[in-house]
Amino acid sequence: MAFASKTVFKAASGITRVSSRNTSSAPKVALLGASGGIGQPLGLLLKTNPNVASLALYDIANTPGVAADLSHIDSKAKVTSHTGPNELHAALEGADVIVIPAGVPRKPGMTRDDLFNVNAGIVRDLAEAAAKIVPKAFVAIITNPVNSTVPIAAEVYKNNGVFDPARIFGVTTLDVVRSQAFVAELKGLDVNKTVVPVIGGHSGVTIIPLLSQVQPSAQFSKAEIEALTARIQDAGTEVVKAKAGAGSATLSMAFAGARFVQALIDGLQGRKNVQCSYVQSDVVKGVEYFSTPLELGPNGVEKILGYGKLSAYEESLVQAAVPELQKNIAKGVKFIKG
Ligand code: NAI
Repeated sequence: MAFASKTVFKAASGITRVSSRNTSSAPKVALLGASGGIGQPLGLLLKTNPNVASLALYDIANTPGVAADLSHIDSKAKVTSHTGPNELHAALEGADVIVIPAGVPRKPGMTRDDLFNVNAGIVRDLAEAAAKIVPKAFVAIITNPVNSTVPIAAEVYKNNGVFDPARIFGVTTLDVVRSQAFVAELKGLDVNKTVVPVIGGHSGVTIIPLLSQVQPSAQFSKAEIEALTARIQDAGTEVVKAKAGAGSATLSMAFAGARFVQALIDGLQGRKNVQCSYVQSDVVKGVEYFSTPLELGPNGVEKILGYGKLSAYEESLVQAAVPELQKNIAKGVKFIKG
């Protein structure tokens, strides 16, 4: 049964605001960046998700067309359209889950870090609004560089006095989806039953597939492990190159994003779900944010499950990822703290 909870909180500014959040069994999802390459197919998947009651589409351009189009689908979710900063408040009001694919994607030759200058400010501004309007909503950040945009959002929430590390997520599901597709194909496994944890972050050497923990268990030669790991770490670049200037992964990302949102909704509604995601974590010394399998529940991260026993090769990958993650995290924190 649906009911709305009222939360009164004091922001860091000292201003007391009242926020109403829909804690219903049929949640509201706000999609920020809804007109983009990811936003449109992700909006389609969320509109057709029977667990979504309300879908708020927000972008700085082209939202009315996307919303009109999606609203003609005969599924339950009620679609609303919001364009530009003046309409951001209405998009966020009452949201249980906020998904952020707003920002520019890579072109051939670019790293995810090259996107920082444009995307850092976009995520900061959206996080600022979310922290003020719906501080308890789960926030799923797709915008790259994820290794830095998650710390940016966290710092904004801290400045507003509402940071809860269990509710801010970097979406790394696409790395898991890709790993499962590649491993199942190589080993002739049933892809629907193939599980590959991916830990670390979401760029190059920080993406660490745990091939020693594949389920159902599979044997890999050293050459296979090295080739698969390299392909998974570079899979985003494979798509960027194939699209030849027309952007990065959008369809597979929308699929992955929809899977992650469903997992958050499962948690919200009391169905246990385990997903890998990049969150504040102390599993690796000296790194403040790290992705590992997490147990999700009504309050977001219920338990950080860690990464279990690693092979010597995977240990070496973690060591290689640490300095890069530290650099990416520090860059995000500095962007807010100055
Ligand atoms: P896109 O350029 O097609 O779409 C981005 C959308 O964001 C546009 O509709 C644009 O109008 C909107 N936007 C820009 N500034 C905004 C603002 N201030 N508020 C709201 N909306 C705003 O880009 P695409 O392909 O959808 O990629 C989006 C982001 O997702 C990129 O940063 C990309 O690198 C990242 N990405 C992340 C992945 C992951 O695994 N986490 C995988 C693939 C892409």
